[in-house]
Amino acid sequence: MTNPITYELLNLAQRAGAQAADYIRQSRYGHDLEIQTKSSPTDMVTKVDKETEIIIKETLLGARPHDGFIGEESDEITSSEITWVVDPIDGTTNFVYGFPVFAVSIAARDGLGHTLVGLVIDVYHDDYFYATLDGGSFLNNRSIAVSNTNSLSQALISTGFSYDKTTRISQAKTVARLIGEVRDIRRAGAASLDLCYLAAARTDGYYEVGLWPWDYEAGTLIVREAGGVVSSLTSDQPSQELTIAGNPNIYKELRELLLVG
Ligand code: IPD
Ligand code: CA
Ligand code: CA
Repeated sequence: MTNPITYELLNLAQRAGAQAADYIRQSRYGHDLEIQTKSSPTDMVTKVDKETEIIIKETLLGARPHDGFIGEESDEITSSEITWVVDPIDGTTNFVYGFPVFAVSIAARDGLGHTLVGLVIDVYHDDYFYATLDGGSFLNNRSIAVSNTNSLSQALISTGFSYDKTTRISQAKTVARLIGEVRDIRRAGAASLDLCYLAAARTDGYYEVGLWPWDYEAGTLIVREAGGVVSSLTSDQPSQELTIAGNPNIYKELRELLLVG
């Protein structure tokens, strides 16, 4: 059962997310995106990333001024109670190219660090993936569940690559090791949607090195509430070290394969 406060947080996230998604759609076409680079020459940020984060922050903190905020494009605001974790555009490279896989990701966690709400909006398709703690996962009001594929050799696995060249080279070696052991590999370009696609049985598993909480927090709740498993290598929480996710049947096999190297 989802409690009334959690519903209130979900409604607020959906309001902020809808405004953000509308703004991103309007900005995509015919406007100068003012592209800059961040951690490496391949890591882009546009003025739309920054402006979208402001829109989300103003809506969330306008309604709940004492909440904390962790966003990819701004300084952290701490709080001992609810904290919002936001990626204004997950999949910026796709957004810049018009490759139709980019998302707004918004999560709310409580003072103990439990994620209460996760919302990921697939902006191009206007699809809303969301979950509340113990309340299940949904895609546009329809309940979703992970696949029941039960062998890694039959599993469709998604992954992503870092913006850092050295990390990428090592990630390519992992892919080379996995490709002969699975049905196929996908690299869609937005970690939050990789997790949602797993939750909706569009893939069977996912892993990636180097993610941040704004990439995985909302998607992790959506996978778990859809019956899937998400962890790192050394704990039951995803982390920068590694995020591994899967339906419960193939998760262990995937984790064991990733442990090897
Ligand atoms: C990136 C995307 C990508 C993943 C990168 C992320 P951004 O986020 O989620 O799929 O492979 O690790 O940094 O930069 O587009 O918000
Ligand atoms: Ca991201
Ligand atoms: Ca981003």
